[in-house]
Amino acid sequence: MPVTVVIGSQWGDEGKGKIVDLLSAQVDIVARYQGGANAGHTICIGDETHVLHLVPSGIFHEGTQCVIGNGVVIDPVALMEEIRMIRKLGIDVAGRLFISHNAHLIMPYHKRIEEVRERARDAGAIGTTGRGIGPAYVDKFARTGIRVVDLLDRDVLRKKLRLNIEEKNAILREVYKEEELDVEAIVEEYVEFDKLIDPFVTDTTALLGEALADGKEILAEGAQGSLLDVDFGTYPFVTSSHPTAGGACTGLGIPPTAINRIIAIVKAYTTRVGNGPFPTELDDEVGQHLRDIGHEYGATTGRPRRCGWLDLVALNYTSRINGFTELAITKLDVMSGLDQVRAATRYEVEGGKVTTRFPSHLEGLKKASPLYETLPGWSENLTQVETLDGLPEAARSYLDFVSKNLNVPISYVSTGPKRSQTIAVDGVAA
Ligand code: GDP
Ligand code: IMO
Ligand code: MG
Repeated sequence: MPVTVVIGSQWGDEGKGKIVDLLSAQVDIVARYQGGANAGHTICIGDETHVLHLVPSGIFHEGTQCVIGNGVVIDPVALMEEIRMIRKLGIDVAGRLFISHNAHLIMPYHKRIEEVRERARDAGAIGTTGRGIGPAYVDKFARTGIRVVDLLDRDVLRKKLRLNIEEKNAILREVYKEEELDVEAIVEEYVEFDKLIDPFVTDTTALLGEALADGKEILAEGAQGSLLDVDFGTYPFVTSSHPTAGGACTGLGIPPTAINRIIAIVKAYTTRVGNGPFPTELDDEVGQHLRDIGHEYGATTGRPRRCGWLDLVALNYTSRINGFTELAITKLDVMSGLDQVRAATRYEVEGGKVTTRFPSHLEGLKKASPLYETLPGWSENLTQVETLDGLPEAARSYLDFVSKNLNVPISYVSTGPKRSQTIAVDGVAA
């Protein structure tokens, strides 16, 4: 069976872009299934670093097709900017990039509503990326959203846009006492996208279905992370989509039975951007070490990422809901130089109870204290290590500990941002 799903197992920024880029060489199609330009997937090729927000991370492999599925919310301005950036690198996207005609669009009013809502929430703000993601998915489910296909018919677009903007203006005016948006300026800007986007638009579910029938290999690229899933994450401090495995089916129109590999991207420690509980967060010199050495600053917003120890309680939970078949452990190199390394294996929750179960609601999670296993650290630089045997014993023990605790085998170990800085564990083709 030919579908591999690559999933962020934590709170995003695990290094999905790097691993997807690496695996793209083995597949025919890379397809994004959810989220939008809130994602920032970093790919380092040679000495150059590129950040992709909407275009799948397979675009740097010439023979690989890229699909933006129906489950993604597309900001046409951001998309066109990204296509321009990719073309400037000498990469031809024509005939390689396909966009679902049913994907929903992010409009200026989504970003505006998000901005005023976050401001109004004050201390309770989610700390979103400001890309309009939440309000765009709200409109999708309210059945008032505008889809890519609507961009191709100027009359339909004008009508839908006017109706939507008038409604959003009423909200801005009456609820938030904020300035209204200029209906006509937006209508005139967005009708111009028809010619630009038209060459890429297609029925991607048909394209993917035919590819499956032809025995082609598809890689579904998740954005964000499982703990940001709107159902399974740390609600309300989540994104508004399904980064988890099921999202690949609904976001692309592929059957669950077509999926045979679910690769969890696991950062060797934990990071989180934005607000919300984070039991293993470190507000000390170890946290600062991880942020400094790991360059933990957001690829989309530049915000410093909160850093902490690996959380195996959370990872066992995300493994259970996703059905991870393999692990790709990233950024192991960043942990060099720590005397000891720790991983939470249990939480002490309200009433002093000790559990391995991830609390299912926010208040329970807020009160949870992690209980750690402590392992020896290592000082060696890992960035040139090419085999598992070449890793220091303490680093190997840490990997073994993680894999055993999760009961999932490790396929890849990443020791630097470049493609070449990846150890493919025996029996796995890199
Ligand atoms: P994504 O959103 O999951 O694709 O991850 P991001 O691109 O937002 O963040 C991961 C960051 O870590 C990027 O700057 C990558 O270049 C970098 N990175 C990925 N893998 C490794 C690794 O193994 N070691 C180090 N040092 N950096 C890595
Ligand atoms: P990648 O794909 C890390 C976080 C935001 C915020 C919450 C909601 O690069 O891993 P949103 O803008 O989605 O409504 O914000 O989710 N968030 C991410 N954190 N990596 C991401 O994507 C993220 N996308 C959203 O910081 O806490
Ligand atoms: Mg990222």
